[in-house]
Amino acid sequence: KQNIQVAIDGPASAGKSTVAKLVATSFGYIYCDTGAMYRAVTLQAMHNKIALTDESKILTMLKQTKISFKPGEPVQHVFVNDSEVTEDIRQPKITNSVSTVASLPSIRTELVERQREIAAKSSIVMDGRDIGTAVLPNAQVKIFLIASVDERAERRYKENIAKGINTPLSQLKDEIETRDRKDSTRKTSPLTKAGDAIEVDTTSMTIEQVVKEITKIINLKI
Ligand code: C5P
Repeated sequence: KQNIQVAIDGPASAGKSTVAKLVATSFGYIYCDTGAMYRAVTLQAMHNKIALTDESKILTMLKQTKISFKPGEPVQHVFVNDSEVTEDIRQPKITNSVSTVASLPSIRTELVERQREIAAKSSIVMDGRDIGTAVLPNAQVKIFLIASVDERAERRYKENIAKGINTPLSQLKDEIETRDRKDSTRKTSPLTKAGDAIEVDTTSMTIEQVVKEITKIINLKI
């Protein structure tokens, strides 16, 4: 039978990974968090004290770096060369540097290749910025998740508080806007809505409502 591909793209903190994981579980598909891969490369480059603009050094490092996932609740576990980085890749210093690494064309080429290999194995829900436009252009279902920047900053604020991180709301809003601007204006596969993507505005929706809406969209398409 044919593998189903569900591509979920959208700006920072729109709730993509939470919703993508729940949808994947309910359909029995695998889930791939491509943002975690760009974060893992950024973490590893910083760990090796490589300048985040040094494309050739980062690429050489990446070729020797295994990035893998294991299922977990409430979030899946992320590994770099077998050491767990699940929490480390969410640190604010990674969040605020990852767009620099994600703008490097050869790093994108390498990660996109790995993402397509993962998708070739099974039906999948993949979330990111360029899934519907570049990674899986033939995905049967493409969703573009958006929410107002105030709502996204507030969600991130609550998540941070739960983790003991105390960044002011206004700073989070600035950081989200800066990251969206970098991701939307880079030359290689910028964040943009695919022509055939369905936009879902989650500003005043609960997670359950978003999952329900996406489930409805998938069931119409498959
Ligand atoms: O989804 P998440 O916020 O974890 O993504 C972190 C960063 O990784 C994004 O801000 C973007 O710079 C980069 N990214 C990307 N393409 C993807 C997924 C993430 O450029 N498909």
